[in-house]
Amino acid sequence: MTQIVLRTERLILRKMAIDDADNLLEIFADPKAMEYYPSTKNEKQTLQWIDWTLGNYENHGVGLWIAEHKQTGEFLGQCGIVPQEVEGASEMEIGYLFKRPVWGNGYATEAAAACKCYGFESLNLKKIVSLPDAKNLPSRKVAERIGMTLEKNIYKRGKEIAFYTVYR
Ligand SMILES: CC(C)(COP(=O)(O)OP(=O)(O)OC[C@H]1O[C@@H](n2cnc3c(N)ncnc32)[C@H](O)[C@@H]1OP(=O)(O)O)[C@@H](O)C(=O)NCCC(=O)NCCS
Repeated sequence: MTQIVLRTERLILRKMAIDDADNLLEIFADPKAMEYYPSTKNEKQTLQWIDWTLGNYENHGVGLWIAEHKQTGEFLGQCGIVPQEVEGASEMEIGYLFKRPVWGNGYATEAAAACKCYGFESLNLKKIVSLPDAKNLPSRKVAERIGMTLEKNIYKRGKEIAFYTVYR
């Protein structure tokens, strides 16, 4: 059963399920989409990702959700709220990964803005972060478009990360 979490003007964000593996692979097998991740992912790693996401729903009540086009039902990508540890502190991050053919339509910004409102209004969070690779300009622009501010650059797993925050 489809569990819708959020609706925006053009999108539906719904819970992820095992059946999403093939669609997710379109993102994970694309070297360009995975440029700022350690590597592309194969089918097995995609299933592990879904498992991790379902665990986040269970343990934290949030996680990455599937973004679909409201009118056509087309799979577009994933966006949601993910618990992260940053310099020893627990943070809630807005994460977004969309398939390449739909980049440049504002979908990631639309989805991320809805997640921000959900985090503040429904989850009562006080702070939400975004953690793009410092070189990942499209991702940094999404964070900036939803009103996040660059707090500092940090190092995580040997990579320079732009630490963006927004407060309620
Ligand atoms: C990060 C990522 C989601 C950004 O995608 P994106 O398509 O650039 O972002 P948006 O969906 O918000 O679209 C914004 C672009 O669409 C344009 N646009 C077109 N129509 C639009 C509309 N109706 N509303 C808003 N923007 C629109 C904007 O002008 C902007 O273009 P610009 O960057 O050239 O100025 C994408 O690059 C991605 O999935 N990368 C791989 C995964 C990844 O690295 N994720 C981040 C990990 S931290």
